[in-house]
Amino acid sequence: MKKGTIFSGMRPTGKLHIGHLSVLKNWVELQDKYNCFFGIVDWHALTTAFDNTEKIQENKRLMLLDWLGAGLDPEKSPIFVQSSVKEHGELHLLLSMITPLSWVERVPTYKDQIVQLGSQGKDISTYGFLGYPVLMAADILVYRADTVPVGEDQLPHLEFTRELARRFNHLYNCKLFPEPQAQLAKVAMLPGVDGRKMSKSYNNDIPLGATTEEIWEKVQMMVTDPARIKKSDPGHPEVCIVHTYHQLYHALDLDELSDDCRQGKIGCVQCKKRLAKVIDQQLTPIREKRQYYENKPKLLREILETGARDAKIKATETMTLVRSAMKI
Ligand code: TRP
Repeated sequence: MKKGTIFSGMRPTGKLHIGHLSVLKNWVELQDKYNCFFGIVDWHALTTAFDNTEKIQENKRLMLLDWLGAGLDPEKSPIFVQSSVKEHGELHLLLSMITPLSWVERVPTYKDQIVQLGSQGKDISTYGFLGYPVLMAADILVYRADTVPVGEDQLPHLEFTRELARRFNHLYNCKLFPEPQAQLAKVAMLPGVDGRKMSKSYNNDIPLGATTEEIWEKVQMMVTDPARIKKSDPGHPEVCIVHTYHQLYHALDLDELSDDCRQGKIGCVQCKKRLAKVIDQQLTPIREKRQYYENKPKLLREILETGARDAKIKATETMTLVRSAMKI
């Protein structure tokens, strides 16, 4: 017996990287315990990319490949594109009628992003962007999900979703929506190869689909102890990104490795080679699975179609209950 219902989603912004792996691994495990729905939320991508839509289609494909590569199983849970289940849109519209303006205006990400993107000369202060959390609430509530695995940055949106669910239940005197709780996974914060936050836009990421050569290229870029020029120079593992990775990957001989570094016994190239091998071992099964699906566009289409069809069954059921509660 599965415990409850989960919805989670990601905006199709491009290839995922190894920093996303812990989140995906968590999803993979949850598939056996919950009724899960996983959505590629393309309408959310439009909130910031409305003037730059040509990449969204390809990004959806890349995201699906990364998800399948990491082990999401379409036999266990529907995987679909948000815009192919129109009920998300209908619920968003109906929820927007009961959402006080002050609630959306005070969501912290709203102000932050307007300021951040505004400083890059981009005006995203649209009606749709203001409604981002309402759409996200609709994504979750349309499946009457009770659990949402998300990162910490999404907690305000989850709080918003609960408030909206409560308001709906109160206004229409029903118990239709559960108040969904966040499920925070233990996320290993892998830094980018240059030590900044890992991000595709900084080109300091290691993509999930990276080849052995690409992994090695990126690992070579990793910033090591700047005071160490020759192998015999004593190293300082605590300032070295390669060491941070060895730590996060729980290298069995971590102590020996750092001693050898401090004593100038192991060179940075050798140390990097070892790390590249560990990352390669981790990514090989993902890459192989990804490649298996990559050459099967028909299968990918079917996965999304079947996913949307199954998601729709639950979403349609919810919408019937919603209309009835609202007497429309
Ligand atoms: N806002 C989420 C993010 O940026 C993406 C998202 C949209 C989502 N709808 C969702 C996540 C519903 C969980 C549940 O990561």
